[in-house]
Amino acid sequence: MSQRSQWKTSTGFILASAGSAIGLGAMWKFPYMAGLYGGGAFLLMFLIFTILIGLPLLVMEFTVGKVGRTYTTEIYEKLTGKKWLNIIGWNGNIAVFVLFGFYSVIGGWIVIYIGIVLMQLINVLPQGLSTIHFETIISNPIYTILGQFIFIGLTCVIVMLGVEKGLEKASKIMIPLLFIFLLVIVGKALTLDGAFEGVRYLLEPRISEITMESMLFALGQSFFALSLGTTGMITYASYAPKEMTIKSSALTIVVMNIFISILAGLAIFPALNAFGYEPQEGPGLLFKVLPLVFEKMQFGTFFYAVFLVLFLFAALTSSISLLELNVSNLTRNDNSKRLKVSLLISIAVLIISVPAMLSFGSLSELKFGAGTIFDNMDYLVSNILMPLGALATTLVVGQVLDKTILKRGFGADRFKLFYPWYILVKFVLPFVILLVFVLQLF
Ligand code: PHE
Repeated sequence: MSQRSQWKTSTGFILASAGSAIGLGAMWKFPYMAGLYGGGAFLLMFLIFTILIGLPLLVMEFTVGKVGRTYTTEIYEKLTGKKWLNIIGWNGNIAVFVLFGFYSVIGGWIVIYIGIVLMQLINVLPQGLSTIHFETIISNPIYTILGQFIFIGLTCVIVMLGVEKGLEKASKIMIPLLFIFLLVIVGKALTLDGAFEGVRYLLEPRISEITMESMLFALGQSFFALSLGTTGMITYASYAPKEMTIKSSALTIVVMNIFISILAGLAIFPALNAFGYEPQEGPGLLFKVLPLVFEKMQFGTFFYAVFLVLFLFAALTSSISLLELNVSNLTRNDNSKRLKVSLLISIAVLIISVPAMLSFGSLSELKFGAGTIFDNMDYLVSNILMPLGALATTLVVGQVLDKTILKRGFGADRFKLFYPWYILVKFVLPFVILLVFVLQLF
């Protein structure tokens, strides 16, 4: 994204923000979080939080971007006249930087898996998706560093050249294809032995299993999957044409996200019994289970390779938004600095991604706070920095900003949604976020 005036049509804006939102959050993180925190109980909280908190917050971030139209490290000052509020923008920058650090570990796994499956296809490695041994691969620092390097490198090159637009066009094909693939995998998973138990685990809302901790993680998952609280969505909206449709764009993104999350869950949970896995597998869940489902299909190796490429694409459109946020804030879109800044940030990300990666290898025993180094990076971003960023923005929007400006940003209001939304943002959401946040401390 090389200049401030960006997409000429709303479509470009929707594609980019959907690209940022839909990624590892829905497909990789949702199933493993649901597995750890109670299946149906988690899904229920995730749905409630995503619809009642995530959607209005997404509308809020789009509105702020639309009325502010500048870099997120100065947008709060521009809107309120208070310089210190720019700290919210910087909170976002730090959040996406750390997020990219651990995101790239998983991105790297996808790259390694693509390499392995391609080598199986051309018979360099022995056939059989079940021969891929997850633990051996991810605990090998040489493979994993290489995977991360390629993932971060691809992101960096795209951001450096400012060619995201090409990717947005491609996502018109890739995202629907990903949907279709997920549907096919779900279809296959549902035919496996013991599938019903898995479906039940994911869909049955066992309210008694809801805990304070799982609530916080479900809230964090909603923020993570919708890219909220990092100012990433504010940035994209600040680039969008004036006539962009905030509410329908936000709704589209939320609905897509929910669908992909549930499909990813339905692709994995029904298969657990058949392959002897528990829902509590953790971050490796998708990588362990899906190859086994594909192996049961005709031309499974080939289709798995295609799926992995689509998955990588979805992860890249998100990682691009992670890097772009810092690059645009630090270069102020001065193109002469773009190459250097993109490269420097990418190198820094690669460096912080190493300890995250070692959490699955030589540092796996090093546990504190939320768990391994990887878990702590994720916890810091998803459960602290993102909710804090969103909370602060609700306070600015609800308590400081002028209602008429907001109303203008909100746009045409056929269904009279402005006031319900405004009341939610001003009086309800700050307290809810704060409550979940504070309660989990005890
Ligand atoms: N929402 C993205 C995903 O689910 C991750 C992300 C978070 C991207 C914050 C940008 C900003 O993969």
